[in-house]
Amino acid sequence: MKTLLRIDASARHRDSHSRELADYYEAGWRRRHEGGRVIRRDLALDPPPHLSQATIDAFGEPEGHCDDTALSDLLIDELRSADDVLISSPLYNMGPPSPLKAYLDHVVRSGHTFRFDADGATGLLAGKTACLVMARGGPVISEIADDFQTPQLRAILGYVGIAAVSVVNLHGTAAGRAHLGPQLDRARRQIDDILAGRALEWIGTFSEDDREQIGALRSGQAEAIAGGDAERYARLCADDVHLMIPGRDLVSGRADFLACERELLADAPLATFEKHPIRIERHGDLAVEVGRQRLAPKETTRCEVFMPLQKYTHVFRRTAEGWRFALLMSNSCE
Ligand SMILES: Cc1cc2nc3c(=O)[nH]c(=O)nc-3n(C[C@H](O)[C@H](O)[C@H](O)COP(=O)(O)O)c2cc1C
Repeated sequence: MKTLLRIDASARHRDSHSRELADYYEAGWRRRHEGGRVIRRDLALDPPPHLSQATIDAFGEPEGHCDDTALSDLLIDELRSADDVLISSPLYNMGPPSPLKAYLDHVVRSGHTFRFDADGATGLLAGKTACLVMARGGPVISEIADDFQTPQLRAILGYVGIAAVSVVNLHGTAAGRAHLGPQLDRARRQIDDILAGRALEWIGTFSEDDREQIGALRSGQAEAIAGGDAERYARLCADDVHLMIPGRDLVSGRADFLACERELLADAPLATFEKHPIRIERHGDLAVEVGRQRLAPKETTRCEVFMPLQKYTHVFRRTAEGWRFALLMSNSCE
């Protein structure tokens, strides 16, 4: 029987976007793990106290279990018993809400969740997954690093041995719920992918903004293709984009790409186009992604390009305008 530890950090119980997305995750998790156990830790209802002199002194004792460590012991037991950890949190003043920081101070504990020796630190909580569901009022501002929470949580979880961390970031909540529809849909789709084990492996350093922009290219491509909108698709591409697909000569440059996609989309309109990225690796201003894409034509088509399941390789390039598709290549899965 699997166990989910759900930790909520928003001070709000009404209108909280991070809690709403965590509800969505929890419901999906329960559907996948019938009979599974969910432990809830509501840091707004029950905020852990800041560390005290007595607690820090007790952490240093070899035995290390006493009244002063009772809360830390309990929180660590909860964490140890979990297979999957869900943390939902808002961004407050560029960092985590203080109860979440206090929680981390109680669970990142030498000899319990990490060990320190001559080789350095070793995390003791390996084998778990974590999902961070974050909400923030502002948009992503690419040049200014103003979200210290996401990298901090990733680093801390990695430190205690939880390397399989996926992040769902909802930006721009200050614009109001009426403007959040597409972002909320995207966040829910991301959660579906994470729960279905389709979470993407990122290799190399990608900022949150890089991830956001590349994610927007993926979903923009899917929306443009499903909507038959070749112009929108072409705008997601670099000027010198290359298209390599079965049954077609190499297409080079945005103008030829647009002409080709106009023809393809008119010839064989699609009812759905779903992407399942598997791995993306960064090489400077290039990033190479491989994955699977599932296509469902509106009607039976003569065109051999539209096989229902394809593998794809995409190269993204960072241009003066931001990340764009530089190479789009797909092939049958056989
Ligand atoms: C005390 C406080 C500080 C905040 N600081 C930031 C911030 O630094 N950057 C930002 O983008 N939004 C900031 N916000 C906006 C929240 O991140 C936003 O309202 C978010 O949706 C809250 O999460 P929730 O909807 O789950 O409650 C702040 C909100 C509060 C209440």
